[in-house]
This record gives sequence, structure tokens and C-alpha cells, in this order.
Amino acid sequence: MTQSNTWSERFESALNPAIAQFNASIPFDIELLPYDIQGSIAHAKMLGQTAIIDEWEAQQIVQGLQQILTEYENGEFQPGIEEEDVHFAVEHRLTAIIGEVGKKLHTARSRNDQVGTDLRLYLRDKISQIRHDLRQYQQALLDLAQTHVETLIPGYTHLQRAQPISLAHHLLAYWEMAQRDWERLGDVWKRTNVSPLGCGALAGTTFPIDRHCTAAELGFEDLYRNSLDAVSDRDFAIEFLNASSLIMVHLSRLSEEIIVWASQEFRFVALSDSCATGSSIMPQKKNPDVPELIRGKTGRVLGHLQAMLVLMKGLPLAYNKDLQEDKEGLFDAVKTTQACLQAITILLAEGIEFRSQRLSEAVAEDFSNATDVADYLANKGVPFREAYNIVGKVVKTSLANGKLLKDLTLAEWKAIHPAFEEDIYTAIAPQQVVSARNSYGGTGFQQVRQAIEHAKLLMNENH
Ligand code: ARG
Repeated sequence: MTQSNTWSERFESALNPAIAQFNASIPFDIELLPYDIQGSIAHAKMLGQTAIIDEWEAQQIVQGLQQILTEYENGEFQPGIEEEDVHFAVEHRLTAIIGEVGKKLHTARSRNDQVGTDLRLYLRDKISQIRHDLRQYQQALLDLAQTHVETLIPGYTHLQRAQPISLAHHLLAYWEMAQRDWERLGDVWKRTNVSPLGCGALAGTTFPIDRHCTAAELGFEDLYRNSLDAVSDRDFAIEFLNASSLIMVHLSRLSEEIIVWASQEFRFVALSDSCATGSSIMPQKKNPDVPELIRGKTGRVLGHLQAMLVLMKGLPLAYNKDLQEDKEGLFDAVKTTQACLQAITILLAEGIEFRSQRLSEAVAEDFSNATDVADYLANKGVPFREAYNIVGKVVKTSLANGKLLKDLTLAEWKAIHPAFEEDIYTAIAPQQVVSARNSYGGTGFQQVRQAIEHAKLLMNENH
């Protein structure tokens, strides 16, 4: 443990190797390296500008830091467990490259404000990437919706066939969820983009630093006003985990539907070979692995949210080492959410085909047009509740006779109620049933076409 006395001469003996291993975060916080360098460059420049260190010293430090980043990107910088964490690793390497002046970098700073800065820079970057992934996913939904405005699919409540709907309407429901996810992440971004740098260990610093200068250099829109809050706040990470949990919940719901639709019982979709796998023993099978994995991975992200909330709930001000535990779950949530968004986008673009023949049979083979018969009578002046009861009886006798509503003769209709005319047949045809639901936000084709146009407009917004 060569670096075991990094923190001070106060310590006389080296750390127990097992404890050093237990204490270290370098195996996972190395992922923060580019952001650590970015933060340190801003800090060093500010130290030079405020004459806390000499300008030439600041320049040397900046150059050294840039070199470390290059080494890291080329795979030449791989610090081991003896470095404890990414912050020490960079500082030691800096001193090895530029000599004693490297030891001035940590003036007026603590690892507490440093790690908070790194985490915010990291998450800010990832939020932008995930918002981009969400846009790709929304585009895939929109493309599919555009080709399926007039494709009908049974609409369900209680997983019982309720009323036929436009397939595009169904897909656009997921587009709307993704739009809220996109907006929510924009909101999280604002509260992530706040600078804790310069708050020191917990109480600020005796040096005449310029926090506004580092914040501006790093593109932070605001600064923490309270140093204790700055070094111990992880609300932004919790908010992110909440937002990513919701993304995953939405993807999981769509995945569940795709899995059900692909089953032999439904046969609403066919999965293409490029996105499905076979069984090692049952040659007839084609498995919907992608949506199943998304549904499964949702549990991980939801778990990370729970873990972070529990991590924070008992912490006194200000920094506590418990906070080192904030990283792995967060990193995994970021990676999982991105991977799932990218996979579902591919699945929608090339992995799934709606079986139009099967869908049009499905919407014609049941009583999901019964509401429309009641609406028909209500339009002719019969009070809706009475109409509802009349249709209930019709469904009952039709079921007993093995008939669908479309199979009833006009004489049979008239026997039920004299208000029925020849136009009852068009009123209950699936295409008409859907088209007629032209209320705002409904499944009527005109509404769906407007929803698509509106979605296209919102997709052009980028902040
Ligand atoms: N590795 C630490 C973490 O991730 C860095 C901050 C350490 N601060 C301290 N006071 N020990 O939280």
C-alpha cells in the first residue's frame, strides 16, 4: 500500500490491505475521470486567476491534467487499488508528471466538493445522452404510428376487449409517456447543473477563491448557496433515479404488451429474426427476449432508486463516507436505461411486424361495438341508461345464439327496438366505430392524425 499515507503524516502505519480494498472506490469511480479532470482544470485556472497560485503554475497543472486525460483515453492510465479513489489517483499522477507544483492543485478544495462536482458533471452529460435516446425511441414510435393510423386493434380494459381503437393511438400513448420522461429529465438537468465547487470539506475556505468563475467555466447555471448543503446533497441523483425509474416502468409496460401480442393466443405481432431468439430444445419457438429483458432490467433501476433514498435518510450533515455508495447504482441505472432505450428503438424499427389480417379479424369477432349500439339508440332519443340495458339483452341473446351483432337481421333489430334502421350496420362496423370517436384525445382517425402532427412539432423542441 504505497500511497496509504496520502492523507497525512499523522498516520503512522499503513492500512490493513483488506481495509484498503474495502475503503477504495477506484474500481468504479474511475468512470468519473474525465469529469474529475474537467473540474480540476476549472479549479486550477481559477487558482491562477485569483493569484492563489502563480499563473505559470496553473498552466503547468492544466497541461498535466490534459495529459492524464489523454493517457486515460489511450488506456495507458489504469490506477490500482492503492490509489483509493479517482481523485487521489489523478493528483498522484499529476505530481509524477509535473513535479512538486502538482501538489498545489488541491489548494482551497476538498474531495467532498470535488466528488460532488464530478458527479454533477457526469450526470449532466448522461441526462443529455438519455434525452437523445428518448427522442430516437419517440421517433420509432411515431414512424410506426404513421403507418398504422387506420390499422385497428382491440382496445382493452381489465384485459377484456372493450372498444376497438386505432393502433397508432395505442402507440402514441407510449409516445406521450416518453414525452413526459423527456420533459422530466430536462427538469432534473436544471437542478443537477448547480456548482458545489469551492464549498470545501463542509464550511467553505479561507482562500480568496472565485466560485462564480469555476461555475461559469464548467457551464453550471447556478451555485449552491450553502456549503453544508452543497457537499452532502444528492437530491439531484435521486431525482434522476426517479425519472429513469419512470422511463423503465413505461418501457416495461410496452414490453409486456409486445410479449403478450407475440404469444400464440394473441398473434397480433410477428417478431423478426434479427430481434428474437430460439429455444435450445423446442425448435418451433421464437422468444421475445428483448422486451423480456427490458421488463426484467426495470427491477434493477427501481432498486437503485430505493437504495439511494435509504442511503440518504439517516445521514447527518455534512459529508459522510456512506456517500461513496451513491455511485455504482447510479452508473448502473444510467447504463441500463440507455441500453433499454436503444434496444426498444431497434425492436420497434425492425423487430416487430403487426399482423394486419389477424388484427382486423380480432376487432370483428367480438362485442366490442356494443357501446356503439347504445350510442346509436341514445342518438335517436332513447335515454343512455335505457339503451345500455336494451343492448345488454341483445348481447345476451346473441351470445346464446352464437351470433355477433353484425349478424342480426334488420327484422331482429327492429324487434329489439323500433328505432333501429338500415344504418345500424354501418354504425357498428369496426372502422366506423373507431372513426366516430372524434372527441379531443380520442381514437378517431382525425384526432390521431392531429396527434401525430402535434407530436412532430414537440419533437423539434430541444430544451
Ligand atoms: N471516494 C470518495 C467518495 O466517493 C471521495 C470523497 C472522500 N471524502 C472524504 N472525506 N473521505 O465519496
